[in-house]
Amino acid sequence: MALEKATGHDKKLQDRLLESGEVPQHIAIIMDGNGRWAQRRGLPRIAGHHEGVNSVRDIVEACGQLGIKYLTLYAFSTENWKRPEDEVSLLMRLLLKALRDEKDRLHQNEVQLKAIGEIHKLPHDVQDELLDGIEVMKTNTGLTLILALSYSGRWDITNAIRKMYDDIRSGALKQEDITEALFGTYLATRDYPDPDLLIRTSGEVRISNFLLWQLAYSELYISDEFWPAFRRKELYAAVAEYQRRERRFGMVSDQLKKQEGTRVIPLSGMERFLKSVSKL
Ligand code: FPP
Repeated sequence: MALEKATGHDKKLQDRLLESGEVPQHIAIIMDGNGRWAQRRGLPRIAGHHEGVNSVRDIVEACGQLGIKYLTLYAFSTENWKRPEDEVSLLMRLLLKALRDEKDRLHQNEVQLKAIGEIHKLPHDVQDELLDGIEVMKTNTGLTLILALSYSGRWDITNAIRKMYDDIRSGALKQEDITEALFGTYLATRDYPDPDLLIRTSGEVRISNFLLWQLAYSELYISDEFWPAFRRKELYAAVAEYQRRERRFGMVSDQLKKQEGTRVIPLSGMERFLKSVSKL
């Protein structure tokens, strides 16, 4: 099975992006604005969630084609359970349908499906479909797609502390052995690198209890588009902006330039790319 390749103008845009710098290894996205997208069109909120699935499909495919290794989507937060019961129920039905409808395509595109969060709180049919998808795709070698479901950063950290406490009590862990790196191994994201780039749609500038520990050094990109309108062109603009940023990790510019592999991206090339995207 092979990854569907981009074609025509889209392929040219992807090539330009790949030539102009490194793409992030891990992108995390807060998919926001489904409800407002729908309400602006006089539609029920669920119509925005439906259209949001089309954005998920487009972004997953484009990330795979760009060679991005990990994509984490904040699909349902711990706090989302507090929404009106009918919206929660419709969202769960939509998630089930999306998992069923997209499974073959994801598999064909070599996507490896994963999930983080309190999966046991999801309806049983959603859990079954999700776990089946994870199992079917477990040996795929393309993009790792991580769905954050019934997830929150504070839940993740609290859960990690509980597990560490158990290990200390049982003697498996000593207090003096606790380091940042070790703490990371107790988090739900233990198998994945921290996100390089966090994208949030709909113009809101908040982390909303997403990957609180993991986003420590991520670049943040806020798009004014609502999630249902956020498609690959917007993703390319976000990646181009990421390539323009200098990630210093607390150091100074000169130290970074001396480090092997650190590339300084010519601004003019980026500007050309952003212009070509905006003309589309
Ligand atoms: C935020 O918009 C979006 C969500 C809470 C749900 C996102 C779910 C999907 C896109 C569909 C299923 C996902 C997958 C992975 C198949 P909002 O409702 O908060 O919008 P608002 O801020 O305008 O009210």
